[in-house]
Amino acid sequence: MSFKVNENVTWVGKIDWELRKFHGEELSTHRGTSYNSYLVRGKEKTALIDTVWGPFAKEFVENLKKEIDLNDIDYIIANHGETDHSGALPDLMREIPDTPIYCSKAGEKSLKGQYHQDWNFKPVKTGDKIDLGDKELIFVEAKMLHWPDSMFCYLTGDNILFPNDAFGQHYASEHMYNDLVDQDELYSEAIKYYANILTPFSKLVTAKIKEFVDMNLPVGMICPSHGIIWREDPLQIVNTYAKWADAYQENQVTIVYDTMWDGTRKTAEAIAKGIKEANNSITIKLHNAARSDTNDIITEIFKSKAIVVGSPTINKGILHSIAALMEMARGLKFQEKKGCAFGCYGWSGESVKMINEQLEEAGFELINKDGLKIMWSPDEEEKAAAVAYGKEIGSALK
Ligand code: FEO
Repeated sequence: MSFKVNENVTWVGKIDWELRKFHGEELSTHRGTSYNSYLVRGKEKTALIDTVWGPFAKEFVENLKKEIDLNDIDYIIANHGETDHSGALPDLMREIPDTPIYCSKAGEKSLKGQYHQDWNFKPVKTGDKIDLGDKELIFVEAKMLHWPDSMFCYLTGDNILFPNDAFGQHYASEHMYNDLVDQDELYSEAIKYYANILTPFSKLVTAKIKEFVDMNLPVGMICPSHGIIWREDPLQIVNTYAKWADAYQENQVTIVYDTMWDGTRKTAEAIAKGIKEANNSITIKLHNAARSDTNDIITEIFKSKAIVVGSPTINKGILHSIAALMEMARGLKFQEKKGCAFGCYGWSGESVKMINEQLEEAGFELINKDGLKIMWSPDEEEKAAAVAYGKEIGSALK
């Protein structure tokens, strides 16, 4: 499959309808993804921007041959070394081994480290460009969006930004354009992508958007390397990223817990009742971390003003689904969110203190420094205490 994005740019990537996990098993992709690769033809020169993930390398090269004589590709642009975009390079370079590969300096390091090949690398910096005859490709380094090697490029004349992972979504669709797909699906995948991948780099997102705006380059289309192409009001996703990067929160609180014999679940539900009683307008989401998708929970946390985290005590610690979630929260560096802890215990009862410490380490401001500890399973009096705890949380989030 290939299709024309406009008369000069052809999409030559791969839609991966089956993908359900990305980055190994780390990130769920309920709606698949696409690896977008673009063939850009100028009057004199032709460039290929990115390739596809390794398992599709042979298919990619075969399809590309139907589109162009590979020897007519003058430049390869590797905006990012991660293998979902560079994975077809070994197959492609076997066919056209001398073709120059334009990438950032860190990109060269990454590609050499992964493929152990001394290809014809041409490291570039922001402002460097290549001439296609009647138009140019301008490079813009995008360090840490989301890897040190990440890079954008911009096609003059057609005014197309190719930002690689930025503004992408793991979203397979036969439509491939933002104006043709279901908007709820599109935005739920875009925010999940931001929450799970870009959150730690939010300050850099803000700075990069400003830098790009200051370059005064008109943007007619944004062609990311995953998901759909933004052609209708393309700056909508840039403006949305600016909001997401600025300590984003909605009027929401997420309660996330794991439970062994239902005591912590009952406590979670009583806390939710209390939050609602004190703050009727706030959206409350409850997730059992062991039963809900972790990346979907992370997206809910990203949208929240606060998280309320519960685990019973086990082996003087916490249940592993909560431990995993807290490790993800630590790495993602959420901004300006509150948190607090609760949990049942039978004997030693360390879980609440441990969760509080992890919340603080992850940058959450504690709503209640003691948290709520319940011995065994909550009776009516302890359920009332959990409702009161919920009311305290609800009031703090008004
Ligand atoms: Fe889509 Fe960072 O790779």
